[in-house]
Amino acid sequence: MSKKGLFITFEGSEACGKSTQITLLADKLRSLGFDPLLFREPGGTAAGEAIRHLLQHAPEGEALTPEAELLLFAASRAQLVREKILPALETGHIVICDRFLDSTTVYQGVARRIPADDTARINAFAVGDCLPDVTILLDLDHQTSLSRMRAANRKPDRIERESTDFFEAVRRGYLNLAKENPKRVLLIDASCSVEEIAVEVLTKVISEINK
Ligand code: TMP
Repeated sequence: MSKKGLFITFEGSEACGKSTQITLLADKLRSLGFDPLLFREPGGTAAGEAIRHLLQHAPEGEALTPEAELLLFAASRAQLVREKILPALETGHIVICDRFLDSTTVYQGVARRIPADDTARINAFAVGDCLPDVTILLDLDHQTSLSRMRAANRKPDRIERESTDFFEAVRRGYLNLAKENPKRVLLIDASCSVEEIAVEVLTKVISEINK
């Protein structure tokens, strides 16, 4: 299957501002005449949203092992890729996904300490050759992330209740990933203003569109 569209993913730790930036980017792209399609992970399909509920909020998810957790994220992704992302890319759409396989590499691989080759193998099985063309990584330190979450004043989900060590490992994992994939991953300081970040994101996306 040939891919004609552009596949953009957003990554980062909790409260890093992904949703805001995705909305701003999508609005800007629409104003330029594009028709971007937006998805989120886990989720984005009926099956994926049920898996999301199990992973984040359902009491049945509380005792999930790291291995089961990884496979559930991968199952949600495998469904999203085939049901939504590939068809959209094949018809030339820009696809913007809030999290994708890098989240598994970092949260389950680095923070939950599942061996990197297992994580990579399961990621590859889930997505096939459907890989992001560009990834926007919003980097935020854990303290700022925590204070933003507290300010949002909502009940934390199962993963948001993890320890400082866990989120420091997540951040380290993301920073390594950016270092290892400098062409694909644009690392942005998420403590900058919303407007500054939006300009950086748009500049990168426009340069990808013009490639
Ligand atoms: P969010 O979409 O609101 O950021 O919530 C998704 C949560 O799931 C977030 O805590 C990160 C976590 N996650 C993983 O641990 N592994 C994954 O592969 C994905 C997609 C998300």
